[in-house]
Amino acid sequence: MDAHTSARTPFSALIRTASREAHSEVRGSSFMEDMLGGRLGVAAYRRYTEQLWFVYRALEGAADTLTADPIAGPFLRPELVRTPELERDLAHLGGRGWRAAIRPLPATEAYVARIADCARDWPAGYVAHHYTRYLGDLSGGQIVRDTAEKAWGFARKGDGVRFYVFEDIGNPAAFKREYRALLDALPVDDLEKQRMVEECKRAYALNTDVFEELSAEFGGDGASPLSA
Ligand code: HEM
Repeated sequence: MDAHTSARTPFSALIRTASREAHSEVRGSSFMEDMLGGRLGVAAYRRYTEQLWFVYRALEGAADTLTADPIAGPFLRPELVRTPELERDLAHLGGRGWRAAIRPLPATEAYVARIADCARDWPAGYVAHHYTRYLGDLSGGQIVRDTAEKAWGFARKGDGVRFYVFEDIGNPAAFKREYRALLDALPVDDLEKQRMVEECKRAYALNTDVFEELSAEFGGDGASPLSA
C-alpha cells in the first residue's frame, strides 16, 4: 500500500480488497463446497458448528476486557453476540450432553489461541478477527443457513441454524454500512492498518485450516461413518 492509496481509500474498502483472494480461497475450500453442494451429512455440519462455538467463545469471551478499549470497544455490539445461539443449535444437534462431547480440532485450537493473543495484547488485531467473522456471517453466512435448512430439515431460522440469524439486526445492509464506518474511523496509522490487513488474511487462513481438517474427517462423499 503506498501512502497515496491509503490516504484516498477508506480502510473498509482497503481491507475488503486486500483480503479478496483469501476470501475466495476459504469460500472455495472443499468442505464449504461439499457442504453447500449437499454432499455432507448432518454430522459434518454439527462438527463444524462445534468448531464455531470454540471460535466465538474466544471472540466473545474477550468482550469484557475490551469494551473500554478505544480501538476494539466500538465493535463489541451486543446484537452480534453468537455464543448463546450456537449453544441452542448445539443442544438441538447434539442433545443435552453436547458440551461434554465436543472437542476442538487442532486447527481450531490454533485459531482460538491467536484470537486470545490478539485480545490480550493487540486490540487492532482483535478487530481484524472480529471483522473477518462477523461481517462474513452477515453476508455469505446466509447462504449457509439456506442450504442447511434445506439439506437437513431445520425449521426456517430455527434451532440448528440460529447462529446465522441475527434477531436484533433488522437491516443487515445498514448494519454493515455502520460497521464499515467504524473501520474507517479507527484511530490507527497506516502502518497499523497494514498490520490489520495482514491479520485479516491470517484469520482467513486459520479458517481455511479448520475447513481442511473438517474435510479430512468427513470427505465429500457422505461416506463418513458419522454422517446421517
Ligand atoms: C461458501 C461460503 C461463503 C460465501 C458463499 C460467502 C459469500 C460472501 C458474499 C456474497 C459476500 C459479499 C456481501 C456484500 O457485498 O455485502 C461476502 C462477504 C464477506 N465474507 Fe464471505 N462467504 C463465504 C464464506 C466466508 C467465510 C468462511 C468467511 C470468514 C472466515 C467470510 C468472510 C467474509 C467477510 C469478512 C465479508 C465482508 C467483506 C467486506 O465487505 O468487507 N466469508 N461473503
